[in-house]
Parts: sequence; C-alpha cells; structure tokens
Amino acid sequence: MSHPLEQLRDDALLEIESAGDEQEVEAARVKYLGRSGSISAWGEQMKTLAKEEKPIVGKLLNEVRNAVTAAIDLRAQQFRSQKETGALGKIDISLPGATGPIGYSGYSGYSGHLPLERGSLHPLTQMLERSIQIFRRMGFALADGPDIEDEWHCFDALNTPPEHPARNEQDTFYLPDGQLLRTHTSTVQIRTMQSAPPPIRVISPGAAYRRDELDATHSPQFHQIEGLYVDENVSIADLKGALEFFMRELFGAGTEVEFRPHYFPFTEPSLEVYVKSKALKSGEQWIEVAGSGVVHPAVFEQVNKARGDKAYDPEKWSGYAFGLGMDRLAMILFDIPDIRLFAQNDLRFLKQFA
Ligand code: DAH
Repeated sequence: MSHPLEQLRDDALLEIESAGDEQEVEAARVKYLGRSGSISAWGEQMKTLAKEEKPIVGKLLNEVRNAVTAAIDLRAQQFRSQKETGALGKIDISLPGATGPIGYSGYSGYSGHLPLERGSLHPLTQMLERSIQIFRRMGFALADGPDIEDEWHCFDALNTPPEHPARNEQDTFYLPDGQLLRTHTSTVQIRTMQSAPPPIRVISPGAAYRRDELDATHSPQFHQIEGLYVDENVSIADLKGALEFFMRELFGAGTEVEFRPHYFPFTEPSLEVYVKSKALKSGEQWIEVAGSGVVHPAVFEQVNKARGDKAYDPEKWSGYAFGLGMDRLAMILFDIPDIRLFAQNDLRFLKQFA
C-alpha cells in the first residue's frame, strides 16, 4: 500500500501537469507548498510521529517536496517562454527602427521611421586615445587627480609664490570655501609623488580652468595632458627626446620640434615646445603646444615635507615634467579653427570625425 504522502505527490503532479495557465500553476504552488499547503502540513505532522518512523517519513517528505517543486518550476517556465515566443513572433526584426537615438522620445506626432544612428568618439577623445597609446609605448602609466583643488596642490607645492599673478582672483576660479578649480593639471604631479616613491613615470589627462574670455582660441575650461618622469639621472635630453618622439608619432615623421626658453616656477630650466609640420593644413608655421622643464628641487622639497620623509631627495632624484595643451593638439591634428566647437555638441561638426 502506498504512503499517503505518495498519494499527495501524485495528485499534485497531475494537477500541475493539467494547469492551463500561470495562475493555475501559482494556485498549485500555494496549495501544496504554501505556508499552510498540504506538504508543509506534513512537515508539522512529523513532530507527532514515532521515533523510528521519523527518518523514513522525513526522507519521503523531502523527495515529495523536491518533485513537486521541480514540476511547478518547469510548468511555470513553459508558460513564460510560450508567452515570450508569442510576443516576439509578432515583431518583424528586419524593419527599420521607429525611434531616434536610444532614449529619444520622438517628435510629437511623428510616426515615420528614423534609423538608429551609430555614435562615434569626440575628436578630443580620439586625440587623447592616440596620445595615451604613444606615451604607453614609452612606459608612462595613467594618473588622476580632482578638478576641485586646494591652493597648496595648485600653487604652493609647485613653488608658486603667494604674489604670483596666476593666483589672482582675476585668473583663477575660487570657490566660496577657499578651494579652487585647478588652473593646470600639474597638481597631479604633486598628488602622484605624495602617494608613491620614485621612480615615477605618469601622464595625467584632464580639464583645467581659467578666467579667460571665451574666443576662438581660449576657453574657461580646457584640457591638458600632464607628464612627470622622476628617476636617477633624468636630464633635459630625455625630456626633449620624449616630446620629439611624441610629436612625430602624432603629427608625422617630418614634424619639426623646437624648444624655446621660458619660465615656470616649478621647472628649471623651463622650455616651451613648438611644432611645425608640412602635413598640417595650418602649414609652415611654428605653433606652441606645451610647457615643460626639469623639475625644480623646491618641488621635491615640498613633496618631502608633505610626505614626512626624504623619498624625493633632490640630490638623488631628478625629473622632467610637461603640460600639453590637448585642445590645441586636437585643433592642429584635425584642422579645427575654433576651440568653442568642442563643447557646442553640434552634430554637423562631430559627424566629421565619425
Ligand atoms: N602647468 C603649465 C601651464 O598650465 C604647463 C607646464 C609647464 C606643465 C611646465 C609642466 C611643466 O609640467 O613642467 O601653463
């Protein structure tokens, strides 16, 4: 004679098998497995059984519960996939899209078909990716720092005295709490050296901010690629070699590079970098693309003070640094006449670089 639990299982399986829709499957689940369902009731009843009966009935109860659960899951899954195929069957996937770009809600009253357009990278992003690839081949890693900075990282640590014009409120965006929008990416030099001992070889692309009037060549927000290399016996020859290589990779083998003496508080000597390339539409003229120089010992001393050690001993370590104007490089590379185009989001402009 079969155990009542086996009878219960057979009833349940039959009921599940003959369920006509998801609701009926759900009803069976509640009836047999629900908190007051009949299988659960058997669990309660276990307590009242004799000691030698318990393991036998317990095992059977488990088997029954597993069989019923599996049958319910399977039947529910069958109904779900039936519903999906039914829905998909009505869709002709060969039709063109009926909406614009993803997330686009459409013109009011528009009922035609707009093809989905493929996006492309912004010219600044393309320039950046090319640049990163070139620097990677020279062993540079990527570093990062915040756009909102403190005066120490932006100026003091970079050997820029309190009376320096760059610190002026006419030039720098100060926030009410005394912090500022970084005026250059050189801040990341300091942050990188604070967080790791030499040798260091990093580039750091990002935005910088100055209170400039917006015109064809100036924007209050622009972009730079900062570079820092610190090691033993780094010289100005290494700096020139690295930047020449970079410019020729970016603008073509025939590109001429010139270094002109300049002044920056955080480098000594300091150089401005100019390029001239026949391959460029702008043609035969020298264009300034970067500031650079040999890291000033005072910068290392500031970093040491902040670190509380002598990791950047200027007697032992030397380095070079540079700041490339990203917008300027992209304008030269792609022959873009106006820096404002980068931020205007005009598809007629952006599509030319797709
Ligand atoms: N921070 C400078 C600027 O924004 C550019 C620069 C010059 C960066 C010399 C450097 C450097 O790292 O060594 O004008």
